[in-house]
Amino acid sequence: MPPWLHELTMDHARLRALASRLQPHRVETDQPPGAILLELLLFLDQHSQREEETLFRALSPILPTGRGPLAVARAEHAALDAVGGRLRLAIGVRLDHPEYPVASRTVRHDLPRLLWLLERHLCAEETSLFPLAERLPAGS
Ligand SMILES: [Fe+2]
Repeated sequence: MPPWLHELTMDHARLRALASRLQPHRVETDQPPGAILLELLLFLDQHSQREEETLFRALSPILPTGRGPLAVARAEHAALDAVGGRLRLAIGVRLDHPEYPVASRTVRHDLPRLLWLLERHLCAEETSLFPLAERLPAGS
């Protein structure tokens, strides 16, 4: 198993922990939801880049690039990036306003979409790409 796979698995756990704090019934009062959302978006960016440089690169010689699970994962990264970009613009300058995500129409619309896309994407990777990566040699 390549060493980076453990790191990606830990990333998924952190992403899920952050996402759970943004569920409507879990919004906390001790930290502005915008700050949690920004933390999730920044970490998601870093994680996606890490995956593209390790997981996707390692699997691209053995999987088709125009279709199949790798192509789906790349498309999902692009979709997450698009929604994440809109959310970053929406929260960009108002992180000190604790009610802000609730008050923003963009956030109200795009946050549930981001959380849905993210969970679907993490599950897909864990059931398709990660098992393939586990069988790669440690030096991959
Ligand atoms: Fe991913």
